[in-house]
Parts: sequence; structure tokens; C-alpha cells
Amino acid sequence: MTFARITGTGSYLPDNIVTNKDLEKMVDTTDQWIRERTGIEQRHIAIEGQTTVDLAEQAARNAIDAAGINAEDIDLIVFATSTPDKIFPSSACILQARLGIHGCPAFDIQAVCSGFVYALATAEKFIKTGSSKKALVIGAEVFSRIINWEDRGTCVLFGDGAGAVILEADDETGILSTHIHADGQYEELLHVPCGIADGYDQVKAGRAFVEMKGNEVFKVAVNTLGKIVDETLEANQMQKSDIDWLVPHQANLRIISATARKLNMSMDQVVVTVGQHGNTSAASIPLALDVAVRDGRIKRNEVILLEAFGGGFTWGSALLRY
Ligand code: ACO
Repeated sequence: MTFARITGTGSYLPDNIVTNKDLEKMVDTTDQWIRERTGIEQRHIAIEGQTTVDLAEQAARNAIDAAGINAEDIDLIVFATSTPDKIFPSSACILQARLGIHGCPAFDIQAVCSGFVYALATAEKFIKTGSSKKALVIGAEVFSRIINWEDRGTCVLFGDGAGAVILEADDETGILSTHIHADGQYEELLHVPCGIADGYDQVKAGRAFVEMKGNEVFKVAVNTLGKIVDETLEANQMQKSDIDWLVPHQANLRIISATARKLNMSMDQVVVTVGQHGNTSAASIPLALDVAVRDGRIKRNEVILLEAFGGGFTWGSALLRY
């Protein structure tokens, strides 16, 4: 049996940091409110001219180095983002050119905060069927560009960043299962209500902003993530105690803690970066994974559960042996 195994991770954050104290000067909020309600202390924000692909390129190069491969060995690029550099070509194609890779399939996936899990699930299938041997899977965003910096309900939550993994075919182990879902009926709880074919005037006016009914999203997210945990364990006939690490999407510390409680996991087994990164949407899981791999917490052969919930609504999980 062929598995898709993560052989290298990489990430990149813009140097520019915006703290909660900085935000106190911009909107009617407090450091205390943001910490207590979300766990966020600071976020990295791209400077003018710095794009999603700029961040992704650094993360990709770090993942390629960690895997010990050459960029030209990559035969698939799957790029999760909701903040692409251009309408087209895809961010995957722009990145492909930057990395000097020619000819392999390269495409974007748009599933907002669940984007990385969607991208991983897609790339895994290419590897399992033998269509690819070495895939680059990326989650990268500059959400700061679609934030209304006058809306305290959203501007305190998000940050920019990129994370990447190399997936390679492996005979022994790797991704054990992936589970992805969507339900479009909740669109109005979380969306950017304009785009190219609908509401382009808003885009041109620089008012293409994230709108979120945070409280309602929160309730659906906690409930749905509980169900995806059950679905993933059942599919693998595993017990909660079989999981070594939870690497969740980093939207809110309270949502992360609720999932950890559902798994009877101590917070010591949960990789939490939301305090330092904020919610970086599709980038948050590969960023958190890279942090914990590089600081030595996550070790080879440990069992890791990734899970995410985001706009769409979309949600999903991946269980893997690292
Ligand atoms: N500072 C101070 N007060 C604030 C702020 C702020 N930054 N933002 C909101 N408030 C106020 C509200 O106006 C409200 O005041 P009121 O009671 O006088 O009306 C009060 O705080 C409580 O607001 P709630 O929205 O009920 O606060 P809640 O505890 O739900 O926290 C939050 C808000 C952090 C947004 C939370 O609901 C959340 O994390 N939701 C889920 C987000 C998520 O997971 N999204 C999915 C992924 S993102 C993606 O896919 C793009």
C-alpha cells in the first residue's frame, strides 16, 4: 500500500508584528478583551507590496530544504489560499515559476480556513493513486488585505503567514485518513460578500472585507469539530488515547481547548500558535506543524490529528503518522 508521508515542513511569517496594544490605538478594544476572548497576543502583518506568494515561496523553500529534495523533483503543487496574488494565474502557477519548476500540475484550492486540510486531502489522493511522487502542499494568506481595520469584531483576529509541507510516496506509513466537508447554507455567517462576477464595484472601492457573525460561527465550529473528531477516530478504529498531538486550525484558543477536551487531551499535547500568529486562515495548520517539528516536540512516527473549520462553511481533518 502507498501512503503519502510528510517528509519536510517549512513556514514563513512577515517580520512586521502588530500587538494588541497597537490595535487599542486603532479601534475600541483592549488587550485584555482580545486575550480573554481569543488567546491572541500579536499577529504578523505583511508590509505593503508583500504578497501571499512572497510568503509562500519562503515557506516552500524551507520545506524543500527540510525534506532534502530539489525543487525540480516536485511533481505536484497544491496551494490553499483565499487571498491569491492575482485573479489569475493561480498562486500555485506563480509559485511554480518562482521555484523554477516546469510542467507539473499546479493549482489553487479555496476553502478559507480549511484550505490546508482540503489541499492535503487532494494531494494525498494524487500520491496514493501513483499520479505524483513528491507534492508541495501550501497554505498561505495575507488576510490583512481583506480586513476592515475599523471593524473591531474582525480586525483583532487575523494575521498573515505561510506554511508548507512536502508529501512523498512511502510504503510504510503517512497520512492515515482525510475527511473533508462543506455546507454552503451558512454563507452569510462568514464571508467577503463581493468578488469578480458579483459586487466588483466594492472590490474596486477597496471595500472587499471579511464579515463575520463571530458568536454564531463559534457555536457551529465547536459542535462541528467535535463531530469530525469522532468521524476520524471511527474511520481509523482508534481511541482518543492513540493520538499523540492535536495540530488544530488556530482561530480561537477557546475553540481549540474545546476540541482538546473532547479528545481528553492535555493542552501539552496541543500545538497552539494562535497567541503569536492570530488566525492565518489556510496557513495556520502548516505553520503550527512546522513550529512543533522544528522545536522538537513532534517526532517521527507520532500520530497527529489536524482539524479545521472555516468559511463556506468548510471543515475537515487529517490523521497521520508523522
Ligand atoms: N474588543 C472589544 N469588544 C469587542 C470586540 C473587540 N475586539 N469585538 C467584539 N466586541 C464586543 C461585541 O461588540 C459584543 O458587545 P455587546 O455584548 O455589547 O454586543 C461583545 O464584545 C461580545 O461579542 P461576541 O461576538 O459575542 O464575542 P465572543 O465571545 O463570541 O468572541 C469571537 C468573538 C472572538 C469572534 C468569537 O466569536 C470567535 O472566535 N468566533 C469564531 C471565529 C472562527 O472560528 N471563524 C472561523 C474561521 S475564520 C475563516 O474561515 C475566515
